[in-house]
Amino acid sequence: MKKIVIIDGGPRRNFNTAAMLQKFADGAMSVGDGIEVKMVRLYDLDYKGCMSCMACKIKGKASNVCRFKDALTPILEKIAQADGLVLGSPIYFGDVTGQMRTFLERLAFPWLSYNDYSLTAPKRMPVVLVETMNGLPERNNSNGYGSMEHCLAGALGQPQRLVAYNTYQVKDYSRFELAGFSEEAKRQYRDEHWQEDLQRAFEAGRKMAEGVITQ
Ligand SMILES: Cc1cc2nc3c(=O)[nH]c(=O)nc-3n(C[C@H](O)[C@H](O)[C@H](O)COP(=O)(O)O)c2cc1C
Repeated sequence: MKKIVIIDGGPRRNFNTAAMLQKFADGAMSVGDGIEVKMVRLYDLDYKGCMSCMACKIKGKASNVCRFKDALTPILEKIAQADGLVLGSPIYFGDVTGQMRTFLERLAFPWLSYNDYSLTAPKRMPVVLVETMNGLPERNNSNGYGSMEHCLAGALGQPQRLVAYNTYQVKDYSRFELAGFSEEAKRQYRDEHWQEDLQRAFEAGRKMAEGVITQ
């Protein structure tokens, strides 16, 4: 059985990021019985970022999986054994959410060697990074996964980015103080792009699953 772990770094269970990740999961599972998909919602977990305990760097006992014990521990252990990894986050103030960043500290610090600055994960695997945001392709403030993208590329392999732009932030714009957005323009963009975004997520899931199943 090949395993794909999907990490949802957004707070809303039924909005844009969750929908993109669910479509990715549907695409992966469409490949058949040989694929197991585990969806993890970071906002459901009680965990810390890197505690700088340095337990992963003790001489003779160095580990490329974080040794700090909390609700993230079984997830990090699962990723170490996985065959594919998907990270999804809304863009908040130009970056991924705090929860996603905090998770990435725990994932990536044990990969980094302070002896030679190499990056080594327990296993290399395909990675997809999903972002959803208000911005447009030609005008957005997203740094995406920022410096963490370099760590992911070095340790796991070059990630594929999957971005949904100009998403609907609320279901009904008339109920909120959101006059800076034209609901009409949002609706038009959504009608032209959202189904396509979801289809791209589905196809990316199918492609990842097909790739890992033939490994
Ligand atoms: C706290 C906060 C900050 C945001 N900052 C940005 C931003 O910097 N750039 C942007 O394009 N969208 C920004 N957005 C919009 C979200 O990224 C966008 O609505 C996203 O699709 C929400 O994902 P969700 O529907 O899965 O919750 C922000 C939203 C919130 C709540």
